[in-house]
Parts: sequence; structure tokens; C-alpha cells
Amino acid sequence: MNPFEQDLPLLGQIPEPLLRWYDTGNRVLPWRTDPQPYYVWLSEIMLQQTRVEAATPYFERFITSLPTIADLAAAPEEQLLKLWEGLGYYNRVRNLQKAARVVMDEYGGQLPADFEALQTLPGIGRYSAGAISSIAFGIAVPAVDGNVLRVLSRVLASEADIAREEIKRSMGAALVQILPATRPGDFNQALMELGAMVCLPNGAPHCEVCPLAALCRAKAGVLTAQLPRKAPKKARRIEQHTFFLLFQNGRVGVQKRPPAGLLRGLWGLPGTPGHLAPDEAEQALVSLGFTVAASQSAGKAKHIFTHVEWQMQGYAATVAGQCDGIVFVDPQQLADDYCLPSAFRAYTGQISKFLGAAT
Ligand code: ADE
Repeated sequence: MNPFEQDLPLLGQIPEPLLRWYDTGNRVLPWRTDPQPYYVWLSEIMLQQTRVEAATPYFERFITSLPTIADLAAAPEEQLLKLWEGLGYYNRVRNLQKAARVVMDEYGGQLPADFEALQTLPGIGRYSAGAISSIAFGIAVPAVDGNVLRVLSRVLASEADIAREEIKRSMGAALVQILPATRPGDFNQALMELGAMVCLPNGAPHCEVCPLAALCRAKAGVLTAQLPRKAPKKARRIEQHTFFLLFQNGRVGVQKRPPAGLLRGLWGLPGTPGHLAPDEAEQALVSLGFTVAASQSAGKAKHIFTHVEWQMQGYAATVAGQCDGIVFVDPQQLADDYCLPSAFRAYTGQISKFLGAAT
């Protein structure tokens, strides 16, 4: 039995005021103005990891460079990664391309208008399939993301742990029963929009402008600060690394990362595990085959991934010689053509400073 079964009468009161609110001023977004399936799909993949304001310029640039699913399927990987540079979670863009190739080969270049078939495509899970089905194809299925879970937990004053998969499923199953069949995409987007703009996390909701305030049990019981309930995440694993900004004739050394692990297959700075002292760092460069002309600290930095935190020590060094796998690239070309993940930004952001000092 669905734990939200007894909440259906309250859930059923949501669509009317919510859609009225959505109609009075939802954000104008490119994938709403032209909700063609490719645009909705791309936007949903970007929005899984990034806020609307940050994702929009990426979206515009992506569809300008790759206007169709056929273009996405045919794009060189380096171009894809460059278009995604800074968004993180690079597997998502690789999956986007894998799925585009399946769509070209098996669906005649059109995304299938089918909630189940969409979930067989790489990178498309239940949430994305629900969003694409409802927004692009008008199919009455839910799309339950973190924003939606927060809104519903508060309206229902539900103590259920929203990190649990079965709670998400039950919430979706309850929503199916009250989704307005004529506007499922608007309904799903309105719930997301309410979560993003009004029903804010961390105890700071704008209840005074909420169209659901009169229905909301959390508001009535002064519970918005405690809800939703979410089991604490596991602490991130801490890793220490030393990275090198290597300079040779005004060029910067970069290296492809290994095919497995964090940032797999992307360009990165050469490095080694652990924090090296200055003399150890020079020694490490010598062991790689370089002669070190000058070396200095580039400072400490931190980068947070989903499950791992990198604590980094950087060194900038002018070197002679070669090392297998490390290529020296003109800084302008690096900026224009190479995808260097933002984990390295604390050091790549210093390239012109160090080069300026050397000339
Ligand atoms: N977050 C994820 N998808 C969204 C959408 N279509 N509109 C607003 N926020 C979103």
C-alpha cells in the first residue's frame, strides 16, 4: 500500500492553485519557449546538476553548436567535452551522445514518445524520462526531483526520508493519480519551479507568496524548518594530491587522465598522489624525466566532488625535457580547444600570472 494513499484528497487540491500561479509568471526559458524533445532532454540532463541560471548559457551554446540530435550523435568527443566544460559530471554528456546514437540508429532520429522506452537510453532515468515524456510529449507521468520531494513533504507534513528510493517511487505513484491529464508537463514544471523559487530548502521558504500556503500542513504546523527529512549523507572521502603547472617555451603541460576513476579520460594537470614538499616535488619531476629550471609553490586548493574531496598542493615549474603522455600546449589553444575540468581551476587560473612573471 502506498504510504501517501491517505494524502490523495490533499494532493488533489494542488493542481488548480499551482497551475494558476505558474500561468501568472513562470520563467521564460529557452526549452520552454520551444519544448522540442531534444531541447527538453538536454535541459533536463543539464539541470540535474546545475541551477537554471547557470545552465542556460551552456544550453544556448550547446544547441547553437549542435542544433539537432544528428549533430550530437556525430560530434567529436573533444567538442562535446568543451561544450560541457565547467558543468562537471562529464559522463552525462558522454551518455547524451551514446543515447543520441541509439536514437539515430533505432528510432529514426526522433526521441521515442514513450516513458519506458526513454528509460532504456543511456543517461535517462525515471526522473528524466518523466520530465521529457510530460514536457515534450504531454504524457501524464510524474517527474520527481529534489525540489518536488521538498514541496510535497511540506504540503503533506510527511516525515518520510526523501533520500529513500521507495519514498520517491511512492510519491510518484501518488502524483500519477492527481496529475492533470491536459497539462502534465506544466504541472511537473510548476512543482519544480515552486521548489526552486518559493519553497526553498534549509528552512527559508517564501510562504507569503506560495500558492499552496492555504493547503500546506507544514506551514500550519510551523514545520517547514524541519521538513523534508533526509538521512545524512556519508562523509566524503578525502584525497590529497600534488599537481604541477609545467611551463616550457611559454606552453603549459597537460595530460589525459586515466580511463577509470574521477574525471576519467579528460585533460588534467600532471600530478601525483599525496602532498609533496618542495624538494620532493622537484625530485618527482626529475623522475618523470624533466630538468627543472625553476620551481615554486602554486598554493593549496580544494575541490569538492559528490563523494570525494581533493585537497591539493600545487607547484609551478619551468622544465626542459619530455615525459610520455604530457603534452605542452599554447595557453590560448588550451583555453579555446581543451576541456580542463574546474577541479584544476585554482592552478590553471594562475597560468598567465606565472607566464607573465617568466617573460
Ligand atoms: N529543474 C529541472 N527541470 C526543470 C524545468 N523544466 N524547469 C525548471 N526547473 C527544472
